[in-house]
Amino acid sequence: MRTVRTALTAGVLGALVAGGLVGLSGTASAASTLGAAAAERGRYFGAAVAANHLGESDYVNTLNTEFNSVTPENEMKWEAVEPSPGSFSFASADRITNHARGRGMRIRGHTLVWHSQLPGWVSNLTGSAVRSAMVNHINQVMGHWRGQIHSWDVVNEAFQDGGSGARRDSVFQRQLGNGFIEEAFRAARAADPNAKLCYNDYNTDGVNAKSNAVFAMVQDFRNRGVPIDCVGFQSHFNSQSPVPGDYQQNLQRFANLGVDVQITELDIEGSGTTQANNYSRVVNACLAVSRCTGITVWGVTDKYSWRSGGTPLLFDGNYTKKPAYNAVLTALGGTPGGGGGGGGGATCTVSYQETQRWGDRFNGQVTVRAGGTAITSWVTTVTVRSPQRISATWNGTPSWDTSGNVMTMRPGTANLAAGATTSFGFTVLTNGNWTAPTLGSCTAA
Ligand code: XIL
Repeated sequence: MRTVRTALTAGVLGALVAGGLVGLSGTASAASTLGAAAAERGRYFGAAVAANHLGESDYVNTLNTEFNSVTPENEMKWEAVEPSPGSFSFASADRITNHARGRGMRIRGHTLVWHSQLPGWVSNLTGSAVRSAMVNHINQVMGHWRGQIHSWDVVNEAFQDGGSGARRDSVFQRQLGNGFIEEAFRAARAADPNAKLCYNDYNTDGVNAKSNAVFAMVQDFRNRGVPIDCVGFQSHFNSQSPVPGDYQQNLQRFANLGVDVQITELDIEGSGTTQANNYSRVVNACLAVSRCTGITVWGVTDKYSWRSGGTPLLFDGNYTKKPAYNAVLTALGGTPGGGGGGGGGATCTVSYQETQRWGDRFNGQVTVRAGGTAITSWVTTVTVRSPQRISATWNGTPSWDTSGNVMTMRPGTANLAAGATTSFGFTVLTNGNWTAPTLGSCTAA
């Protein structure tokens, strides 16, 4: 496959040069949305999403335009999905995952085993009944979305705050002892072998006693072959808990253990330049650590933030981009003000659908829709996950980044009336990874 691809790449580049299209690729690479800019850096940019806001058009438009990964904010938590023993309700979380899947967005799973938002019936269990409930919960919940979730927070917040590095008290800790975390990860690997399994926590963002304790656990898991793929750093910051000076160094030391790191619940209270600078520091730290695979902010708009009084997000209550938004986009290498929004110029949107599936491959189709005015050209990206390979394409002219995972697609000719659609297609050889591809934003001219 690799050989075929290389030949194809060279051919396409030749055609682009011959056709005088190279200038166009220069302009188009300045991504104007968070998701597209992050994708160009090989990362995702996500938001925590609440199902009950999916009927609000400004919320949905901002989500669809800017983000390419979602984390259900509460809908996958134990109290939401298994409110009584063995009785599962996935409907609200499914609203979010269906929304995401229909648009090629990735999905983070949050969270399987956590002391909080845990129904009373679990807290009251004793002895091995806790183990059975935990393993069954992991099997049922991961099984429901098997193959659809890129990363799962298997265990959340199992360490105490303060200097002791001790485990936090919970029914899991009391009844099963320290081994509960390892048991959860082993069950999770079996339940969805393609998901990255993460340990997630807060106040572990810098080097301190709590992060040292998590570090020792991850190191021990890696030494003993306990399955763990990633560590999530919640990154809820404010003046009492600022972005640590050694944030990047801390991410790097975890990455050096051979796990991915992800920024999972980022929000930074404040406003203006100070907030913007803090956001830049976080994004730059992630970009400096090659195993930092993505960033999720804990909400779309300040007005629905769990810390709304602290205005900690990138869009204000009217969905206006804040200085922090521009800082993040700039740090990601994008260009603020370069399209997006509803500004009357040439715009387009993209959506993804799987159209066919075989034992080793699937076909994807991307529909490109012109915005409110006619367009004469468009460009968008499709990112697949290694070891997947795109083995064929149709109805468009592809080019590739050096990793071979990001395909930039342009039309041969493209005159689309306002609101009109066209589509292109491709075949993904899965090599065992059935994750759906991610779309970048669509840029029109
Ligand atoms: C928060 C949600 O944002 C709130 O809506 C909910 O009331 C409480 O939980 N750490 C986590 C998240 O892992 O699940 C929490 O989310 C924020 C802190």
